[in-house]
Amino acid sequence: MALHPGILRNLREFFRKFTPSNHLYHMEEQWIRVFAPATIGNIGPGFDVLGLAIQHLGDVVEARRVAQGVYIREIHSEMPLTNDPRKNTAGIAATEVLRILNIEGGVELKIFKGMPSGSGLGSSAASAAAAAFATNYLYGQQLSREELILPATRAEEFVSGDFFADNTAPSLLGGATLTRSCLPLDVTKIGSLSNLIMVLITPKIVILTKEARDILPEQISLKQFVFNMANACLITAAFAKDDYKLFARSLNDEVIEPARARLIKGFAEVKQNALRAGADGVAISGSGPTIFAITDEAKKARFIEDAMLRTFAQFEVDCHSLITEVDNEGTRLLL
Ligand code: HSE
Repeated sequence: MALHPGILRNLREFFRKFTPSNHLYHMEEQWIRVFAPATIGNIGPGFDVLGLAIQHLGDVVEARRVAQGVYIREIHSEMPLTNDPRKNTAGIAATEVLRILNIEGGVELKIFKGMPSGSGLGSSAASAAAAAFATNYLYGQQLSREELILPATRAEEFVSGDFFADNTAPSLLGGATLTRSCLPLDVTKIGSLSNLIMVLITPKIVILTKEARDILPEQISLKQFVFNMANACLITAAFAKDDYKLFARSLNDEVIEPARARLIKGFAEVKQNALRAGADGVAISGSGPTIFAITDEAKKARFIEDAMLRTFAQFEVDCHSLITEVDNEGTRLLL
């Protein structure tokens, strides 16, 4: 039986008015879950160009399609974060992906933070990577992982004030990456280190990337440039060749670390004691305050961790710690 056109019109009008936020809720749409790993930016001397994805830490973003717009429905985080999609990196990345896809449609997001913001572990980049991946997945996976780096990095730029992909790229691709150029974006996955063990110590202080960039030297000497370039190049070779020993002797930074070390109380002593405890190298992760020490022997890792924690305790700095390895998968769908 056909409905009278007038009744049909009234029914449509009724649903338009009384379905709460009807552009938001598409009850039939399924939620998907995406994980994006935490990352170590710079990997020592490779300021803004080298980056590495790590295991056991990262953000989860749940997403589903809606008719239009980008909405952040929930944020589960120890720290307050904005749910304004124009200011949250997940919201910005999702918006950028929709813009690139140039399609009708939107997404609704739930963000589950797996690491603190301002810790130097690519927290904002992980949310951006997960949201970009999820949005692309919901709309037919038209973009490759590599193509998702740009929208995720644009989101990262909003919070850090600068355009660099050393967190977004490894979070999306896994392993270690190198950014040759930002615009146009040119990123290469360089490989992995199968026996690298990292001891991560995160002091419970917040260092905002923007602030940690503002204190960097405007000029450096030719000697410092050559030193950092040589070490960064060898780190690239080490990841490409899966050569831990080459990596261990190249984890040296004479430009950025000296400037940022003073933001981390006890840094020099913690580094020295980690090396004494058997670490093969120590560096600041991203813009800090997380510090990482490296070894290829599991039994040494606990010893190094203990030495670093005890040294920070002497400076009355509370810390989280984690022993981890390279994440080779990058951002992925969780089933
Ligand atoms: N390359 C960036 C910096 C990474 O060191 O400022 C921030 O995690």
